[in-house]
Amino acid sequence: MNNIQSYIKENKDRFINELIELLKIPSISADSAYKNDVLKTAEAIKVGLGKAGCDMVEICKTDGYPIVYGEKIIDKSLPTVLVYGHYDVQPPDPLDLWDSAPFEPVIKKTALHPEGAIFARGACDDKGQMYMHVKAMEFMTSTNQLPCNVKFMIEGEEEVGSSNLAIFVKNNREKLKNDVILISDTGMIAQDVPSITTGLRGLSYVEVEVTGPNRDLHSGLYGGAVANPINILTKMIASLHDENNHITIPGFYNKVEELSKEERAEMAKAPFSLDAYKKALDISDVYGETGYSTNERNSIRPTLDVNGIWGGYTGEGAKTVIASKACAKISMRLVPHQDWEEITQLFKMHFENIAPKGVTIKVKPHHGGQGYVTPINSIGYQAASKAYQDTFGKTPIPQRSGGSIPIVSLFEQELKSKTILMGFGLDSDAIHSPNEHFGVFNYLKGIETIPLFYKYFTELSK
Ligand code: BES
Ligand code: MN
Ligand code: MN
Repeated sequence: MNNIQSYIKENKDRFINELIELLKIPSISADSAYKNDVLKTAEAIKVGLGKAGCDMVEICKTDGYPIVYGEKIIDKSLPTVLVYGHYDVQPPDPLDLWDSAPFEPVIKKTALHPEGAIFARGACDDKGQMYMHVKAMEFMTSTNQLPCNVKFMIEGEEEVGSSNLAIFVKNNREKLKNDVILISDTGMIAQDVPSITTGLRGLSYVEVEVTGPNRDLHSGLYGGAVANPINILTKMIASLHDENNHITIPGFYNKVEELSKEERAEMAKAPFSLDAYKKALDISDVYGETGYSTNERNSIRPTLDVNGIWGGYTGEGAKTVIASKACAKISMRLVPHQDWEEITQLFKMHFENIAPKGVTIKVKPHHGGQGYVTPINSIGYQAASKAYQDTFGKTPIPQRSGGSIPIVSLFEQELKSKTILMGFGLDSDAIHSPNEHFGVFNYLKGIETIPLFYKYFTELSK
């Protein structure tokens, strides 16, 4: 497949421009104001898959946003790769922190991306990474080098919990039958340090509400005599971690997978500079659970974080008031064996338990999902490893990520196949943040590496 490089060289500008067109559509799944744009993006993906050589492409309706499905079955006796990705994006807020408009993509050079990076919401997560697969497919079909069967399943609700995809998967097990699932929706260690993601964290997301008096009160007339919901909420939240930053919810750690000394030593071999990490985030020190390194804290350990908190007066000047209510959104990242529904239940019981008299508590579960780990001795992992070896000249490092793609564990449960996470983003690509970007180098390297995965996977399956 060495003509892939010349193919990329010849088509580079078109590959970039096609992605830019896709990035211009604001497919924000969380905000219903963008409904038509989300639907328009699904149409665009359908057209793209058809042009890339799929024999059959369809838009599958769900109770939410549709799933774009495409396939090319060349020989039923050959293996089948199922590619998953998502065409929805996170809201771009806060807009004023973007240096260029989130849906008007621009290419700019950065220190880590001397060849330029595409700046736009979704550039890396996940339109850019998903579209690498479409272009890799185009290369394989147009040069007659597709070695096996391919199925594409691109959804529009990943950023809001994939609940309709879960139903779709359960109802379409035969249609989605495959030998391996391939996803590019994660990252790699550095431009010259390729890695394959071998684990994802699970997630439990809840919203809490603390209610005190039935109305907002004068803080002079009532202050000190009634429970202040904001004081109480912050106190309750603070108590969820102890002095070692362990989570205090009873039973929270019961099922946590403990890694062996050997596994931890292996993890510690991955290149990492604490200084560079601190510098990139402009922090004087890191912070976290006692007894674990930064890389362990953000991958193999469970966490609890407040994502948003509100209540009371936040306008200009001062208003002396005790608010009637205070609220917070809290996420818990989970590790293998922790069950997200059980953890949600444990959280709810504990939070209700620790509330003092004088307030009422509501805990509203949002979405969640299980964590995932994949072995490195599978054919899929080996094929991916060989592919990176060819294109980067180095064996990729297996690495567990802190992020979540909850649908992956459901894939394994329902479709009985392993997922290979070939991510080409960098942590510094600012996914979900202002100024999200994706390196042109990374985009093209992905397109170059993916066809080799197909080739090695097919060879190793024989
Ligand atoms: N692609 C990300 C997940 C990710 C990013 C995993 C980088 C590993 C490395 C995905 O789109 C995402 O944002 N997932 C959400 C969870 C979802 C239920 C909203 C997350 O991790 O917060
Ligand atoms: Mn994603
Ligand atoms: Mn995301």
